[in-house]
Amino acid sequence: MKKVVVAIDGPAAAGKSTVSKAVAKILGYTYIDTGAMYRAFTSYILDKGVDPKNESECVKLIPEVSINLYPDGKVMCSGKDVTRVIREPLVSSNVSYIASYKDIRLALVELQRKMAGEQSVVMDGRDIGTYVLPNADVKIFMVASVKERADRRYKENMEKGIACTYEEIVADVEKRDRIDSSRAFAPLKPAEDSIRLDTSNINIDESIAAVLKIIRDKVGE
Ligand code: CDP
Repeated sequence: MKKVVVAIDGPAAAGKSTVSKAVAKILGYTYIDTGAMYRAFTSYILDKGVDPKNESECVKLIPEVSINLYPDGKVMCSGKDVTRVIREPLVSSNVSYIASYKDIRLALVELQRKMAGEQSVVMDGRDIGTYVLPNADVKIFMVASVKERADRRYKENMEKGIACTYEEIVADVEKRDRIDSSRAFAPLKPAEDSIRLDTSNINIDESIAAVLKIIRDKVGE
């Protein structure tokens, strides 16, 4: 079987991880959630009591942090199971500061490239098609309106029992989009050779079908 690399980027809560996970399962590829890695690093920084806005202090922690993603979605960070805590509002509201620090990005990108290694993958994030895997076979830039994205994330949080208000979610999504798009190193932007997929008016199943079609059209899988 030919090795296939699929990169899915886009703004916060556009449905990338739900769709990527399902597509990877259908095709028998490995799903890699790079956002979970930035979130795990952020939870480690918060645990240590380091100020997430203090770049030099955050960067000093790089050698202490080891992150492992498991096929069942479990996320381990330096020996601690952080699967749940990385979805909490405190991590969400700080992760984009951490993700703007070049040295932290370089450390995590190295890990991401290693994970993509020899296998077929669906990797989702902000800079996968532009920076992490620029030779990806398929690049998709997934977008949706802020309202649709906030509605979806709010519903997801309620289902997971994560306390938040709708207004907090809108503010978080807008803030992260702003920081992620304006950072100097590897900002959120569509790769020139990416295909834009707007999921504002389609549901999860239709989004999965749309991504599968794009992959099949490109690589014949
Ligand atoms: O699931 P959601 O869209 O809320 O975000 P995520 O994919 O879990 O990513 C969380 C944050 O990590 C983003 O807002 C970015 O600040 C950062 N991130 C990044 O900078 N580069 C990536 N490849 C993935 C995530």
